[in-house]
Amino acid sequence: MGQGEAFSRRAFGRRAAALGAGLAAAPVTERALAQMSYVGEPPAGAVLLNANENPLGPCAEALEAMGAMLKRGGRYMYGEVLRMSRTFAEIEGVKPELVQSYAGSSDPLHRTVLAFCGPERAFVKGEPGYEAGDWAARVANAPVHKVPLTKTYEHDVDAMLEAAGPRAGVFYVCNPNNPTGTVTRRAGIERLVEKKPAGSVVLIDEAYIHFSDEKPCLDLVQAGKDVVVLRTFSKLYGMAGLRAGVAVARPDLLDKLRAYGAGFLTTTGMTGATASLLAKGVLAQRKQYVKEVREGVFEWMRGKGYAFVPSVSNKFMVDVKRPGREAAAAMAARKVYIGRSWPSWPAHVRVTVGTREEMEIFKAAFERVMG
Ligand SMILES: Cc1ncc(COP(=O)(O)O)c(C=O)c1O
Repeated sequence: MGQGEAFSRRAFGRRAAALGAGLAAAPVTERALAQMSYVGEPPAGAVLLNANENPLGPCAEALEAMGAMLKRGGRYMYGEVLRMSRTFAEIEGVKPELVQSYAGSSDPLHRTVLAFCGPERAFVKGEPGYEAGDWAARVANAPVHKVPLTKTYEHDVDAMLEAAGPRAGVFYVCNPNNPTGTVTRRAGIERLVEKKPAGSVVLIDEAYIHFSDEKPCLDLVQAGKDVVVLRTFSKLYGMAGLRAGVAVARPDLLDKLRAYGAGFLTTTGMTGATASLLAKGVLAQRKQYVKEVREGVFEWMRGKGYAFVPSVSNKFMVDVKRPGREAAAAMAARKVYIGRSWPSWPAHVRVTVGTREEMEIFKAAFERVMG
């Protein structure tokens, strides 16, 4: 065994230990964030309910378009990137210059935080909330203010406005929220946009908007507000591994994000995203499917007396009445991989809504684990 190999084995061992310890010591990188839902090579028959993915994968139209694109993979084909953002703009009814394509939504999320946060410009978010922004804020040496959600699991916009006062850089609102799957009503978001200090932006992460009945916030961008909206094809459209997303913002804000990266996007991701947008009925069918499966699990949980947060998304938080990590490990021993806990909610674990069949397996394992 060479030195490098020995080192990497040790490093792997440490990382595995960190995973076991609930990732308390995870370094500030996006790779590490991906590893938070990393379960190694899952055993045959494993049910993966840990990363809010869509087990249905890409729709038939996207599969066909991407298959055809593979043979043409020797070309950059810049037009595909533009076709994706223009198709999005047309379907959503926003001006094309407000839409920028990316490889998913993590990339523009990071860029927005790097562009608008710094030692004097704080990152303000709801808690529990998606962590990627806090990690980018640490890279920018920016203070992070985690403001507890309200009793009804909405972002507490008034407390968020107070948290950093005039020294706020980015207000991050994930709607519906990850991990709770709950929505923050439009009036609150509008108040935040109107009252926020000059120079700051409201970053509205709509990764899960398609699962809810909530009105998206693209019209705030169209109206010229200091708002950046993120969308991804990783969730409802089932393209997490294929990478496609957009940032929607005023051109002057999009320009600020451009400085933080370079390079081309995959033509498979772009063409798959365009085909998904144009596919008839996919959005409505998938939304309905997830809703039916989720509500079925909720009904079962109510019947059994398990406490959970009533989500309108493709994941929910369940109260396991013990350290969440212990319950997740007990589920993993039954080949059902559920998500993580948040330090502020240590006895809750996030569970992704899988297929109907997967959720039957989840129910059987969960009942055993809960005793
Ligand atoms: C709220 C939220 N935003 C962004 C992302 C990033 O997804 P992607 O980069 O695949 O678009 C995720 C992924 O889980 C998420 O939950």
